[in-house]
Order: sequence, then C-alpha cells, then structure tokens
Amino acid sequence: MISIKDLTKSYDKKLAVNNISLEVERGAVFGFLGPNGAGKTTTLRIMMGLLRPDSGRVVIDGVDVASDPIGIRARVGYLPDEIFLYDYLTGYQFLDFVADVHQLPVAAKKQRIEELLSLFGLSDAADEYTANYSFGMKKKIALASIIIHSPKLLILDEPFNGLDPQATRDFRQLLDKMVENDTTIIFSSHVLEVVEKLVTHVGIISGGQLRLAESFDSLVKTWGSLENAFFELTASKQQPGTQA
Ligand SMILES: Nc1ncnc2c1ncn2[C@@H]1O[C@H](COP(=O)(O)OP(=O)(O)O)[C@@H](O)[C@H]1O
Ligand SMILES: [Mg+2]
Repeated sequence: MISIKDLTKSYDKKLAVNNISLEVERGAVFGFLGPNGAGKTTTLRIMMGLLRPDSGRVVIDGVDVASDPIGIRARVGYLPDEIFLYDYLTGYQFLDFVADVHQLPVAAKKQRIEELLSLFGLSDAADEYTANYSFGMKKKIALASIIIHSPKLLILDEPFNGLDPQATRDFRQLLDKMVENDTTIIFSSHVLEVVEKLVTHVGIISGGQLRLAESFDSLVKTWGSLENAFFELTASKQQPGTQA
C-alpha cells in the first residue's frame, strides 16, 4: 500500500529525515513512533506530497506521490498534526464543503454526511459552529471530514494528542471499525499507551532514522514489550506520555 524508498529531507542544515525506506502492507495498522523531533511529521507530509524530499520517493497504492499529488489526495485521508477548521461553518456545513471538494455526487452527499455525524456522535452538534466545539469534537469532525470520500488509506499525525481517555477510547474504536472495512492506517505517536491496542505493525524513528519496522508480534518476541523496544532504540530518558 505504501512504499517509501531512501527518503531524505533537510531543513536548511538540519537533517530531519535520514534515508528512510519502509513498506506498509495493505490492511496494516502501522504505528509510526518516535520522540518529539524524530522526523515523523516530516515523513508523513512528504507522503502526502505536501513537502518535497531532497531525495527518495514515495509510492502509494501504485501512485508516485511526487508526480500525482491530486491522485494521492483522492486515495488518502490525511489528519495533520494541527487540525484546521473554518470557525464560521457549522459541523454540517464543514462536511458539506469537504464533500464538494471531493466532488461527491449530490445524491449521495447528504446521506454520507448524516452517516458520519452519527458515527462520530456529532448529530446533535451538526448545526453548531465548529468554533464552539470541544477539542475532542474538533478532532472527530476533522476525522469525519478526511474519510468522507471513503479513502483506502488514512495517514494520521498524532491523532490521539490532547484527547482525554474517553475520547481516546472512542477514537480508537472508530479506527477499529475502519480497519474492519479494509482501511489501511498509518499514524504517528510519541505516546505509547494507546498504540499497542491498535497496531499490527510498528516503526520506530529517532534522529530522522528508522530504527525498527516490523509486526507488533515479532517486536514483542524480540524485545519483550513495545516500551522496551522504544526506549532501547530511541535511547531516551523521557517518560512515555510527556509532552514537548
Ligand atoms: N519547518 C521546519 N523548519 C526547520 N526545521 C524543522 C521544520 N519542521 C521540522 N523541523 C525539524 O526537523 C526535525 C523533525 O521534525 P518533525 O518531523 O516535526 O518531528 P516529529 O513529528 O517526529 O516531532 C526536528 O528537529 C524539527 O525541529
Ligand atoms: Mg510531529
């Protein structure tokens, strides 16, 4: 589903992503883990064609990201690390706007929006301005908006960041549902707790380098636990769950 080959990216003189190669198979839930500043966001932005790498390439679902960014956007749902909503649109209007961007047929649009509002528990808030939503609600409407065109692949940058335990659980269950419907997911996280409940595969990045990429089961066999692998490979004294 995703093929990354020899990816390198610097900002001025700072090497952010250092020669990363990675394969993510169809149907996988791939947790892309690393401490703050490891290079996760940079890698995900390159995957979406939002940033140009210095070298290397990304192919998603057979499409070269650099040569067909529009084709990528039709196939992928991308949740950026900082969500962007229009304060002056209601939840319903926001989804309606995004549906138009993706050129959903008018006949299917209303049903799809109502289905998503219901799925995310936002039906009662549909006519409220998103400016008045709680952080968790904003994240849910953002996730609803990125799956409105039923993408095969989700690229989620720190989807659990800032969510309380209940919202985290709701969100995880929603992702589980999507996986049941054959969606492939790659998501970044610098927090470990949620990750093990969700992933089939794990990649650990630090200092711009991919230190490990394998199935969760084989990781546990080799390292005993995700936590062990993470701290050994990132050589960090930081506790899981701490924010930058
Ligand atoms: N726009 C930018 N300009 C300069 N340096 C950046 C920029 N974005 C990220 N960096 C640097 O690149 C490195 C990787 O950042 P990032 O990809 O955001 O890591 P992560 O998402 O894992 O926290 C960090 O050292 C960060 O400071
Ligand atoms: Mg980041």
